[in-house]
Amino acid sequence: MVHLSPLQSRLAASLLASILLFVLYLVLFPPNFALAAELKQALPIVFDDLDDIDLPPPDYKPRGPLDPTYEPKFAAFERSILGRAPSGVTALTNNEAMPMNVEAGTTQRFVFSLPSVSGRGPEGGRLELRSDQVRDAGAGAGAGIAEYDEEDGGEAGQSLARRQASQRVYISANTCQQPQPVDPSKTTTDPPQLTLYVSTSAENQAPGPLADKDDQEVVVFEEGAAVFNLTTNKEVYIGVHAPNATTAFRGIYNFRVAASVYHYFYNYKDQDDLTRLTWVDSDSQGALLMTQNLTESEDSAVQQRIMSSQPYVLFAHNMKDRAINGVKNSFCGLQTYAQIAAIKDGRRTDMVRTVITKRGAGNFPKQQFFFNGLNSSADYIGILVSDGSALTKRQVGQTATAQGIEVFKPTNFTTKSDHGNCALIVDLNFCDQIAYSVPSNPSFGNSSRLASFYDDYAAAMYANFNKSLAQIACEAPASQRYSLARTCDDCAAAYKDWLCSVVIPRCEDFSNAAPYLQPRAVGQPFPDGTRLDPKEAEGLPNNMAFNSSRNPMIDEFIQPGPYKELLPCDDLCYKLVQNCPAAMGFGCPLPGDIGFDGNYAKHLPTGGLTCNFPGSAHVVSAGERAAVVGWGVLVGVVGLGLGFLLA
Ligand SMILES: *[C@@H]1O[C@H](CO)[C@@H](O)[C@H](O)[C@H]1NC(C)=O
Ligand SMILES: *[C@@H]1O[C@H](CO)[C@@H](O)[C@H](O)[C@H]1NC(C)=O
Ligand SMILES: *[C@@H]1O[C@H](CO)[C@@H](O)[C@H](O)[C@H]1NC(C)=O
Ligand SMILES: *[C@@H]1O[C@H](CO)[C@@H](O)[C@H](O)[C@H]1NC(C)=O
Ligand SMILES: *[C@@H]1O[C@H](CO)[C@@H](O)[C@H](O)[C@H]1NC(C)=O
Ligand SMILES: *[C@@H]1O[C@H](CO)[C@@H](O)[C@H](O)[C@H]1NC(C)=O
Ligand SMILES: *[C@@H]1O[C@H](CO)[C@@H](O)[C@H](O)[C@H]1NC(C)=O
Ligand SMILES: *[C@@H]1O[C@H](CO)[C@@H](O)[C@H](O)[C@H]1NC(C)=O
Repeated sequence: MVHLSPLQSRLAASLLASILLFVLYLVLFPPNFALAAELKQALPIVFDDLDDIDLPPPDYKPRGPLDPTYEPKFAAFERSILGRAPSGVTALTNNEAMPMNVEAGTTQRFVFSLPSVSGRGPEGGRLELRSDQVRDAGAGAGAGIAEYDEEDGGEAGQSLARRQASQRVYISANTCQQPQPVDPSKTTTDPPQLTLYVSTSAENQAPGPLADKDDQEVVVFEEGAAVFNLTTNKEVYIGVHAPNATTAFRGIYNFRVAASVYHYFYNYKDQDDLTRLTWVDSDSQGALLMTQNLTESEDSAVQQRIMSSQPYVLFAHNMKDRAINGVKNSFCGLQTYAQIAAIKDGRRTDMVRTVITKRGAGNFPKQQFFFNGLNSSADYIGILVSDGSALTKRQVGQTATAQGIEVFKPTNFTTKSDHGNCALIVDLNFCDQIAYSVPSNPSFGNSSRLASFYDDYAAAMYANFNKSLAQIACEAPASQRYSLARTCDDCAAAYKDWLCSVVIPRCEDFSNAAPYLQPRAVGQPFPDGTRLDPKEAEGLPNNMAFNSSRNPMIDEFIQPGPYKELLPCDDLCYKLVQNCPAAMGFGCPLPGDIGFDGNYAKHLPTGGLTCNFPGSAHVVSAGERAAVVGWGVLVGVVGLGLGFLLA
């Protein structure tokens, strides 16, 4: 037995690997070409127009034999040698989606063989790592080469043993097209769902409705998607069955099926209690939606990377239209049927702008979607999809390849009435946390003019306050400061939050009957000249709070007509009093006092958006609901603060 030094054994291993790789290359390619020719015949017809849809490219590009993630098609190779694949069965490639049509009452069959080089493992993070090593190798980093060769040499030696090892296989499918109603006006049901059958038994190589029930697993698609996982070391047989035709629907199904040893290629989370997508607000033809924090890392490099990516795509659809019913969990179904798709290079992107914003609690990056061109007084459904394949391309994080395409639970949102006197404003310079609908009038000007009307006013108010604050001993030694616990910065921040919410009223339709809303400007005409039906105004006290806006400037310059205001939260005022020097004279009214009703509203313990605060949205998570502070010391009416406003 010759003993090799570690260096020699590395060399030997790497030499062996290189030779093996070369032999593999020579052996594999001729049968591969033959296979491609065979497949072309076996491939089913796929709708042409589906190919026109801008599907993001599948995340696995064709690879060369020197790429570490290159997967020699042993499975197909074995089959073509042994002739095991029955006719009419399509072979699936690891982590690639296969498109296929299926007619009512028939079953399409697939077979998936575990990738032979099984040491690659199920965790995608490793793929990323290895491709980094190869890049190092290319750049001539010696350590990278050694590490890579050693690992690969070892793997080549062990691959025969590992081939038999069990692996977890993730099977997923999406319905891309479904039969359409013969008479849409009469049809009140959705097209029936496809069914996925899975078998690993050599006895049942054709799973489907007619096969032995004990020899297969059955998963009925849910809203156009099915997922199933199993651990096996055998070939996996898959059937996708379309139900018998009914008289109400016409047409065939088209679907995509994928098997992967890494993760679900198509996943969905309809049971997720975590609402990924938050409806912030809307106006008569637009809506603003936002994802959760994309990261909570304080690391600026991580934040920078996130800021330059757009990890989510969003689909929106008018709920009156039934077209997406039955495919709400299906990425490619949504691509086919959703009215609005916020996909880069996708359709109807003119109706939605998406950016990464840091607005909102915590100031972490979030992806924002801003729609326009929606119908007024309409209910919409928004469905967020994280496109793991897009992430991979942008190399966001090490775990990116561990994700496929994931469809999240839908978020409902509605647009406001066509009175057009509430309009969304975003991207304010001074009140940078403000993004919601404000009292408006189409004749006042565009959204940026409206935004600066409110924002400039708030900034001017703040400048007055800033002068007063400068006279307080903020930076004085501790013994002379107004409080040891609060600084002038705390006071300035609390004032800004309060000011922006008070100066920029949050607008709701006058027809919104929620009890916590304050009717405003009931005596004015709507922008279209019509007036409130006297019956609607009946019972409203004929006082200033109802007959005018909070800020007379709004009635003078904008003249929005009757609207309702979502009042600022009372805790904005309490925070102001707590954080600012008593000498500034701030005070807050208590519920029941003169000055509370019509000026402030309270958070309700039951949740929901019952009052306005910077960064507020229609769905308020428990964490965002600021606790209402104790108020023993807070007496009196807003003094100086309101004074500034009315000045
Ligand atoms: C695999 O399937 C089982 C049920 O069949 C499920 O409980 C489990 O969460 C699945 N695993 C993954 C990683 O999805
Ligand atoms: C579907 O139709 C076939 C014949 O057309 C019939 O044999 C079968 O029982 C039907 N299946 C169902 C679930 O109705
Ligand atoms: C973002 O993170 C902050 C800080 O952890 C948290 O308060 C806030 O609720 C999060 N925002 C969303 C939309 O999840
Ligand atoms: C708006 O309504 C019309 C008529 O009901 C409908 O055809 C159209 O699809 C709707 N558009 C959107 C974006 O909801
Ligand atoms: C969204 O609207 C649909 C239809 O009205 C309803 O069934 C569903 O429960 C709503 N979802 C949420 C989260 O409110
Ligand atoms: C809005 O109107 C102003 C003039 O009032 C104009 O300068 C500006 O370009 C407009 N902005 C947009 C986005 O149309
Ligand atoms: C407030 O005043 C301070 C100086 O007292 C100044 O540095 C700061 O820029 C002012 N802030 C604003 C928003 O005017
Ligand atoms: C309400 O406002 C309208 C116009 O804004 C005015 O004509 C009317 O007199 C006001 N009514 C009361 C009771 O102040």
